[in-house]
Amino acid sequence: MDSDLPGFLGPNEAPQHPDSRQGPPIRLMVVKRREDAARALALSQDGEVCWPVSVPQYEFARIRTRYVAYTGGVGSGKTIAGALKAIIEGGRRRSVGLLVAPTYPMLHDLLLPAFFKYAIGPGESPRYLRSYNKAEDSGDLINGTKVYCRSADKPDKLRGFSAGWIWADEVREWGTGDPEAGLYTWNILVARLRQFKDGVLFLTTTPCGRSHWLAKKFLDSNDPDFAIVKSATQDNPFLPDDFAARLAHEYGTGFFYKQEAGGEFVDPEGDLFQKEWFVIKEPPQNWRYFVRGWDLAYSTKTKADYTCGVKLGVTATNDVWVLNVVHGKWPWPQARQMVADVARGDGSSVIQAVEKVGAQLGSLQDIRDVLVGHPIKSIDRLTDKTSYALPIASRLQQGKMFIAPGAWNQAYIEEFLSFDGEGRGHDDYVDATANAMQAVVRPRIEITEW
Ligand SMILES: Nc1ncnc2c1ncn2[C@@H]1O[C@H](COP(=O)(O)OP(=O)(O)OP(=O)(O)O)[C@@H](O)[C@H]1O
Ligand SMILES: [Mg+2]
Repeated sequence: MDSDLPGFLGPNEAPQHPDSRQGPPIRLMVVKRREDAARALALSQDGEVCWPVSVPQYEFARIRTRYVAYTGGVGSGKTIAGALKAIIEGGRRRSVGLLVAPTYPMLHDLLLPAFFKYAIGPGESPRYLRSYNKAEDSGDLINGTKVYCRSADKPDKLRGFSAGWIWADEVREWGTGDPEAGLYTWNILVARLRQFKDGVLFLTTTPCGRSHWLAKKFLDSNDPDFAIVKSATQDNPFLPDDFAARLAHEYGTGFFYKQEAGGEFVDPEGDLFQKEWFVIKEPPQNWRYFVRGWDLAYSTKTKADYTCGVKLGVTATNDVWVLNVVHGKWPWPQARQMVADVARGDGSSVIQAVEKVGAQLGSLQDIRDVLVGHPIKSIDRLTDKTSYALPIASRLQQGKMFIAPGAWNQAYIEEFLSFDGEGRGHDDYVDATANAMQAVVRPRIEITEW
């Protein structure tokens, strides 16, 4: 047997199954290359199961502090790490386990398939899972361990469990990303961990900003009950070779890349956009279409101030140009009039892109009234500010987006350079441009006859 391979669990280290109905011991084998995964699996025999793991997954499986977090970049193997640890904890002794996904769809689409992979094990017949009740979302392992699978979208429903171990995936998404709501869920879960003195609560998640409670608890405190295992996307040997490189290409090198691929706890500090990406030059004249995106002061009552309209032109070669910007502080009825005037000046060939979120629904109707005869596109804003700004960053970085000379150039570019994605500074130019980009990214429906 390949006992010289690093990270091979010795015979005494395999988790024990004290119950009479034991499953086969689980061995973990660290693999560095994708091709070696099959080699590890081939070591599985009737008497034991051998799983290939990455280095951080291996560490995570073995750490047994009360609270441990596996934080990592996209596709760094977080969900698999959690599923594997769950089946190891479930086999440690007859216990109650709680599996928690942020939402019900995420439970069914992501968490459970990973859990079943390890609960069933390689081969035909399930190695560790005795039964699963879909209606109740709970399962029984062959050693008598009971596993409850839940979503965290109604955290109060998590009360009442008395668990020996808990796994929660994508904790950052708790409370739809609101840290305070997330902390509330954490506080509820912590109180569920009471079946044994040495129970464990383990988290797997993409990291977030330095001020998030996850960073404070798992990084900043010296509490020996807390441990963290960090992994980057490139640490996962099971991904296609070029995956990490493709992410780097899409995300650039700034904050977003560090967080989403590097798996680091970082604050944006305005480094999503880089100065040298902004190229000012005279635009060509081979236009395909124009879009003006609006960020309306009406929408953000707290900073009820700036209204901003950014006109983009898209060329025959699919380059995007920032052609003209209007920006000013007007109370709503005047801002509305200004939007109407600018749109009239743009003419009916320019699509007016207005966000259709929250309070802006009212303004959208209002704008529709003043823009009769102009093409309007209402923009769905589905993601956080940073992801929303990402198509702009990506295009700029690829040299597919340019700035036409104008008096507004300096203020416009400066706002991008200080953009932190958290709404701390002003982001009217960024928002207006992002709204316009939504209409650029999905320009129109093509109909193919067949
Ligand atoms: N130990 C492993 N053995 C085999 N495949 C693995 C292993 N770890 C990760 N993978 C594979 O790598 C890919 C990413 O793993 P996983 O879904 O766990 O990552 P993730 O960090 O949870 O991703 P996301 O950011 O999308 O949530 C999956 O295809 C998964 O099957
Ligand atoms: Mg995952």
